[in-house]
Amino acid sequence: MNIILLGPPGAGKGTQAKLIEDRHGMKQLSTGEMLRAAVAAGTETGRKAKAIMDRGELVPDEVVVGIIADRLGQPDVSKGFILDGFPRNTAQAEALDRMLGSKGLRLHAVIEMKVDDEALVERITGRYTCGSCGKGYHDRFEKPKVAGVCDACGGTSFTRRADDNEKTVRDRLSVYNTQTAPLVKYYGGRGTLKTIDGMADIAQVTRQIEGVLKGL
Ligand code: AP5
Ligand code: MG
Ligand code: ZN
Repeated sequence: MNIILLGPPGAGKGTQAKLIEDRHGMKQLSTGEMLRAAVAAGTETGRKAKAIMDRGELVPDEVVVGIIADRLGQPDVSKGFILDGFPRNTAQAEALDRMLGSKGLRLHAVIEMKVDDEALVERITGRYTCGSCGKGYHDRFEKPKVAGVCDACGGTSFTRRADDNEKTVRDRLSVYNTQTAPLVKYYGGRGTLKTIDGMADIAQVTRQIEGVLKGL
């Protein structure tokens, strides 16, 4: 199955994409994570993207479309994929349609995760990640079972994203509302859109997504 998780910053796209990946073997394709890896590796793409990401703006379409085109050509997506953070505007959605069409693939569902703006700010400013395996945590909502030790890999170093401060979060939200939210209409017109309540707790959101996947 090939799905998109569509939602504002902090909606839970990455959290749920990793859970779907574990259960169903579909591959998470997060343009944000791929760009952060490019920044960390100091590649040319990473150097160009860093300042744009720190401001909460969108990296140019040709860069992210190129990244996704490359990933869709690799064998590990054969069981399906979960797009997390792509597409983010109509031009990217149209480019995705062309890429899928040329490979004879289709989207089975676009799952819109709805969350209130204030909850998003709280989620993002409390978020941190295991520096070894990348598992995500939250100061209040998703703590490791043993404080300071990653549940998944036992790692003890954690990182916070450069764009996870309140000012940049509000800028990212406004970019989402103006540039990405129109995709709800784009996909709504085709019958692939399923809207779920992203305000529920993590396990309940997972159950709603499982319900959508079962119905496909
Ligand atoms: P990206 O990495 O995609 O960031 P984002 O869309 O802003 O989304 P986040 O990763 O912040 O949120 P999420 O929905 O994954 O939430 P999470 O599961 O972590 O993009 C970053 C930047 O890269 C962009 O600003 C842009 O510059 C660039 N970029 C990326 N893609 C691009 C594209 N296609 N085009 C152009 N530029 C692009 O959850 C958040 C926190 O809340 C966690 O701590 C989690 O534990 C907690 N949480 C999750 N679910 C719940 C719940 N149900 N209840 C309580 N807490 C929860
Ligand atoms: Mg994410
Ligand atoms: Zn870990």
